[in-house]
Amino acid sequence: MIMDGNGRWAKRRFLPRVAGHKRGVDAVRDVVRASVDFGVEYLTLFAFSSENWRRPPDEVSFLMQLFVRALEQEVTKLHENEIRLRVIGDLSPLDAGLVRLIEEGERLTQSNTRLTLTVAANYGGRWDILQAMNRLARAHPERAGRYTEEDLAPLLAMSYAPEPDLFVRTGGEQRISNFLLWQLAYTELYFTDTLWPDFDTKAYLAAIQSFRQRERRYGRTSEQLVADDVAAVPVGRG
Ligand code: IPE
Ligand code: IPE
Ligand code: MG
Repeated sequence: MIMDGNGRWAKRRFLPRVAGHKRGVDAVRDVVRASVDFGVEYLTLFAFSSENWRRPPDEVSFLMQLFVRALEQEVTKLHENEIRLRVIGDLSPLDAGLVRLIEEGERLTQSNTRLTLTVAANYGGRWDILQAMNRLARAHPERAGRYTEEDLAPLLAMSYAPEPDLFVRTGGEQRISNFLLWQLAYTELYFTDTLWPDFDTKAYLAAIQSFRQRERRYGRTSEQLVADDVAAVPVGRG
């Protein structure tokens, strides 16, 4: 999910942008809870993109503080609810204290299986593909020029998760903004004008209803799907 529209939510109420980010955290709590109720196994939230450093320094530091506070207040609750926390992105420019909280939260919740909640922080889809490519090239220089998708995929930041079924972007913009580029190849895309702080259980259900009406053909024809019942065959495998 691309959680977009916090700033506009605040602006409509004549509040500072950061008030929208604060309310955005409440929406995160609701969406995590609803995901557990719906039986969603993987929920991935775009919290801060590699491009968001371009925002005013005050807003950037507010977002970082909000992340710190959310980790401090929520990790125990995540653990109690059997939720596994993962954070993806380039953590090297983040404050040491924040990185420590992330690592502690991941360690505490690592064996939980009910829901995997991934937070993308200082994440960029291009960064992800490049870091995987560079690691692959270093590990196997002898195979340069012959790398396959199966070589690269395990080195991507979300290799622990299946490729996403559904992408949701709130806030009305219809773009990917450098989110999971590789992984979204065959994901169903859903865009809603609802601003992130207003994205409640009802809005979430509407996204899932839309997803349920999609026919996932993976390059085949409709007729083939009916005949062979192959809709569940993963991309690129036959
Ligand atoms: C998304 O809301 C939150 C982050 C990018 C951190 P925005 O802050 O982008 O809200 P708008 O798009 O300005 O309304
Ligand atoms: C995308 O939202 C990133 C996050 C929600 C974290 P932005 O609001 O930063 O995206 P653009 O700049 O409008 O594409
Ligand atoms: Mg935005």
